[in-house]
This record gives sequence, structure tokens and C-alpha cells, in this order.
Amino acid sequence: MGSRERIKKGFSKLLKEEKLKTIANYFENPGEVVSLLKSYWHSDSKQQKLFDEFSENTITNYIMPYGISPNVMINGKNYIVPMVIEESSVVAAASAAAKFWGERGGFHAEVPDVRKVGQVHFGWKGSMEQLQTLFPAIKERLLGDTDTFTTNMKKRGGGILDIQLRDYTAQIPDYYQLRVEFNTCDSMGANFINTVLEQFGHSLQDFFSERLDLPEELRKCEIIMTILSNNTPDCRVKVWVECPVEQLNGIDEHLTGAEYALKFKKAVDIAHIDTDRATTHNKGIYNGIDAVVIATGNDFRAVEAAGHTYASRNGRYESLSTVTITDGIFRFELEAPMAMGTVGGLTSLHPLAKKSLELLGNPTAQELMMIAATMGLANNFSAVRSLTTKGIQEGHMKMHLNNILNQLQASEDDKRLARDYFKDKTVSYAAVEQFLQSLRK
Ligand code: MEV
Repeated sequence: MGSRERIKKGFSKLLKEEKLKTIANYFENPGEVVSLLKSYWHSDSKQQKLFDEFSENTITNYIMPYGISPNVMINGKNYIVPMVIEESSVVAAASAAAKFWGERGGFHAEVPDVRKVGQVHFGWKGSMEQLQTLFPAIKERLLGDTDTFTTNMKKRGGGILDIQLRDYTAQIPDYYQLRVEFNTCDSMGANFINTVLEQFGHSLQDFFSERLDLPEELRKCEIIMTILSNNTPDCRVKVWVECPVEQLNGIDEHLTGAEYALKFKKAVDIAHIDTDRATTHNKGIYNGIDAVVIATGNDFRAVEAAGHTYASRNGRYESLSTVTITDGIFRFELEAPMAMGTVGGLTSLHPLAKKSLELLGNPTAQELMMIAATMGLANNFSAVRSLTTKGIQEGHMKMHLNNILNQLQASEDDKRLARDYFKDKTVSYAAVEQFLQSLRK
């Protein structure tokens, strides 16, 4: 494919319909593309406007499947979990694990801490000792200047928890950092944190410029940038399942529960020592987590970025889940950072995110962290269970066959025949196409 002709300046100023037509001209059949993309517009123009305003240069909506994993037992409470995911078999895998563990005491979860971090990166020509001397006064100024922004959060039990000074001048000349810790209660908190940090930046500059007792050079402070950190190791959730090894009897017809527990542990241990495996293993975890994060209007890039950083905390990228077998008890645990909210942002704007939260019983942010992590552990359990028994292709191929049949526009009768025919055969696009052709002959 060659390079595409440049779009003329001013694209963002065009009306949506004009943007769509401009883009349609890049296709072989522009008229058809306009109709197709328009067919995904919401029938209610008010609703459509809402979606259009979530982003820029929108020309249509991109639909994703919204599935349900029923009856997920977490800390003795039953949840009906919405999952938005395009990958076939993720919802089925999560549901199968939820059923399996539902019969073995369910999932157990806790949130050890909910601290989030923001940073003011700044340049200043003085020494760390001088800065430390000024720090109590700086802190007072920063807290005072952001009081109006933090009042509501404080009322809800959150706000600014701590401000620390970091000296990086050995690595980058004159570079210091304010590391600020926040509790953002039930909101993900990105807006709150960034608003406070930007004010911190202005206040820090004002503080220095107003210190007439300082030499001219030290009355200047360069604010390089202010931004939250998506690294949230202290906003973390832990979820686990456990049972006597005998309760794993039957998973593998050739192994006892105790033997199977060891095999399962080995598979997870491999993901602790081998990064290639760890990446796929954790990807399977995020299949479950992301689906809940998206369904509830949260930021899956933030959640994933934090997770992958956490997975590298020992200096090597490792599995986020672990298995222990102690005194005949099999325990499978996942610990992951997770910055999620149940108020503010898309959670209250996206009509389906709102409904997802309602379906979950309007959880607190901490409860939602536990639900998302549970679906991560559930998917991880099903994936490793399949991999260590019959392999994943059997389940995947069933869904894959469905997708191919849909692509080939098979009738419902043909689909039934194809499912039956491919029960004991390898599925491929060509094989399915050939099968359908043979039916049509
Ligand atoms: C596929 O989306 C996820 C798996 O590859 C995860 C894993 O290998 O553990 C099945």
C-alpha cells in the first residue's frame, strides 16, 4: 500500500458529515462506506452528540461486544459482571472459572492501599540543603493555594496525603521533583491530581519569585511539567482462590488433584522466570481485567501500564499471579495495581458504563478494583487450566469457527451443519469455505 494523499488543512473544523465524506473518498466505494459508517451512528442524535464529544474528529462509533459473566462470588457477595471485549472465549473462560471457584468458596479479595502519585518536575539552581530548608514553607504555600480544590475530596475522606522532595541533580543538572501522594476516593482521580499539580507548579514559581531574601538566580524556578504518575503500586488489589488439592480432582483425567496442583504451579512458576511466557500469561490476566475496565468506562491503558510496571518490580518482567501449595491447600493469587473510579469521567457520562456500575450494584472504587482483578484471576485460571490440559485451541477454535462462518455469511442451518462437521476436524478459513461450498453444490 502506498502513502495516502494528505488531508487538506482544516479537517478538524469540518462538520461531521463532511469529515465522513472526506474519509470515504479514500475507499474504493465512497458511497457504500458513508452508508456503512453512518449505519453505526446512534439513532438518537442527542446520544450520538454525547459520543462525538468524548473525542475529536469522530465520524462514527466502533461497536464492541458487551457480554456478561454471571454469578461471580467475591468475598461472599454475588456479582453479575459486564465485560466488553472483542476476543472470543474471554467471557466464556471467565465464567467457567467463576463457576468452578464459586463451588469452592468463591474469590477472596482485598485492597491493601489506595495511594496514587503525582509529580511536579522542576528545575532550580540551588542545592538540596537550601531546598530542604525552604520546604516547610513551600509545603504550606502549596497546600494553602490548593485548599479550594481539595475541600470536597477531603470531605469524602481523601485529598493530599503527603508531599516529598526528590533530588535528581546528580542525573540531570538542577532537576528536582515534588512527589505528591493522593487519595482520590471513588474517583480515578486523574483530573483532580493534575489540577492540583498544575496549581502546585504555579505556586512553586510564585513562592520563589516572592522570596526577595534569595539571590536573583534562586528566585527563578522552571516548571518542566506536572502530571500524575500511572505507576500505582500503592493503589493495589489482591485477589485469591484456594481449596484443598483434592478439590482439583477431575481437572485432568490422568492426574490426581494433588498432581494437577503441582503441574498448574509449574506453569505459573514458568511465568515467573521466563519473560516470554510472563508476557503472554499476564496478557491473559488483562483479558479479564480490561474487559471490566472498559465496561465501566475506566482507563484500560492506565491500568495496564501500571500492571506491567508492577510485573517488573523485581528487575525482571514476571507473572502477576502466583501459586502456593501449603499443607495440601492450593492457593492461586493475583496482586496488581489498579487505578479505577466509580464516579466522574466516563463512568458517569457513558450510558453503558453507568449501567455496568448499576449492574454491579454501584460498587465503590475499591470494590470495583476487586471485581476487575477477580476477572483477571478467573481468566488466568481458565487459560492456564486449558494450556495444562487439553490446550486452548479447542475452545478458541469453536469461537473462531463461528467468526469464520459469520464472515462467510453462512445461514443458521449451514452453521449448525458446520459446527457438527468440525467437531473433530481442524478449523481453518479455507476448510470452512470449502465445507460451505460443498453444501451449496
Ligand atoms: C489469549 O488471549 C490469552 C492466553 O494466551 C493467555 C495464556 O497463555 O496464559 C491464552
